[in-house]
Amino acid sequence: MMRSHIDKVILSRQRISRRVQELAEEITRDLSPHVSRESHLTIVSVMTGAMVFCSDLVRQLPLQLRIATMRVSSYPGIATNTQGAKLVEAQFDGLAGGRVLLVDDILDSGSTLRLLVPMLKSHGALEVKTCVLLRKKRPEAMATPVDYVGFDIPDEFVVGYGLDYDDYYRNLPDIVSLKPGIIGGEVGRRA
Ligand code: IMP
Ligand code: MG
Repeated sequence: MMRSHIDKVILSRQRISRRVQELAEEITRDLSPHVSRESHLTIVSVMTGAMVFCSDLVRQLPLQLRIATMRVSSYPGIATNTQGAKLVEAQFDGLAGGRVLLVDDILDSGSTLRLLVPMLKSHGALEVKTCVLLRKKRPEAMATPVDYVGFDIPDEFVVGYGLDYDDYYRNLPDIVSLKPGIIGGEVGRRA
């Protein structure tokens, strides 16, 4: 059972949902003056981690927007340290002349944002704003420019609300840490 793998709840679903609402209000205030027929808005969700966060966020944005996805791989399999972000799949059409809000689950080494922001600009986006639900309190993350942050969390490995370990645990409604022994073991496969 997945439940028995949980060590601590780091952020409860209630806290996450309150914060997502606040972020949506902030984003709406900032972007609504600019979103018009002349400058369209595309929300770019980094798959698969940002899927849950982004789906909650966009439903609280009363703006005319389109959604695109990009797939980046940084944690192949059971690794928990980024091996450097690589673009796996992207949808760049329709970005030219518009604004982009890039949404990711967590800012860790910063390599995902460093890879994607210039790519989006090179495909013609006028402005790229960035939004992450979580930012780890580590120097590389704190030094990476980002426009909207949900929560700063300790530098430990977390799963749930879209975040995975070996592609498992994304469906947990809370953000949690895993018991020692789960990471690096084969237990995830038996979840
Ligand atoms: P960065 O490119 O190193 O900033 O890392 C971003 C990506 O690494 C995120 O989109 C996540 O997919 C993954 N990641 C980083 N830290 C964690 C974590 O604690 N749990 C699960 N995934 C993580
Ligand atoms: Mg990710």
